[in-house]
Amino acid sequence: MQEQDIYGKYGEYLPRILEDLSQRIQAANQQVKRETGHKLFEHFSARVKDADSMLEKCQRKHLTPSPEAALRQIRDAIGIRIVCGFIDDIYQTIELLRELDGCQIILEKDYIETAKPNGYRSYHLILEVETPYEDCQGRIPGRYFAEIQLRTIAMDSWASLEHQLKYKQEIKDSKRIVRELKRCADELASCDVTMQTIRNLIRESE
Ligand code: GTP
Ligand code: MG
Repeated sequence: MQEQDIYGKYGEYLPRILEDLSQRIQAANQQVKRETGHKLFEHFSARVKDADSMLEKCQRKHLTPSPEAALRQIRDAIGIRIVCGFIDDIYQTIELLRELDGCQIILEKDYIETAKPNGYRSYHLILEVETPYEDCQGRIPGRYFAEIQLRTIAMDSWASLEHQLKYKQEIKDSKRIVRELKRCADELASCDVTMQTIRNLIRESE
């Protein structure tokens, strides 16, 4: 018999929960598009954190590896990223997430209103989703967490590039690099505000 990974027997449910949640969010976006003529987001991506990365994260956080640690103490085994064209669309998408049946937002972090010191911007929330599957506490219907990150296209470009750069070792002149990255994030944020203003002006004139 194959040895179980950190998710144990619950691992097989994760892709199904992710797929179901993804479909419901995308259907809601389509619904908004039919009603208003505008879609709320441009890109949608979803992943289950692979068992090795989850194990590594548990060790980094000094948690004894177990399904409980991977699925209850850490809450991003299921992750969704939603990339919107405009800042207002992020907040409208969040309202749509609040309305999802069987889902409860249990934590929200607004790094758009308050950017991280390095310039990182995004809206993060943790959803608790009711599912037909058993969870690691023996409940049926079981409850699983999903982390949802919402960003504009500009915030997403910055986060992707900054993430790539972080993995480059032995960066010289790192104070300057940190400062330049922060400046770049702030300039992109200013563009987001301008694009939002432009769209408002266009809509007012329609
Ligand atoms: P972890 O879940 O341990 O990562 O920490 P946390 O719960 O304090 O996380 P937070 O909600 O602040 O961020 C979680 C995720 O957001 C990370 O896994 C990244 O995907 C993303 N993120 C947060 N900060 C940064 C950042 O400075 N740069 C980039 N590129 N991504 C970030
Ligand atoms: Mg997290």
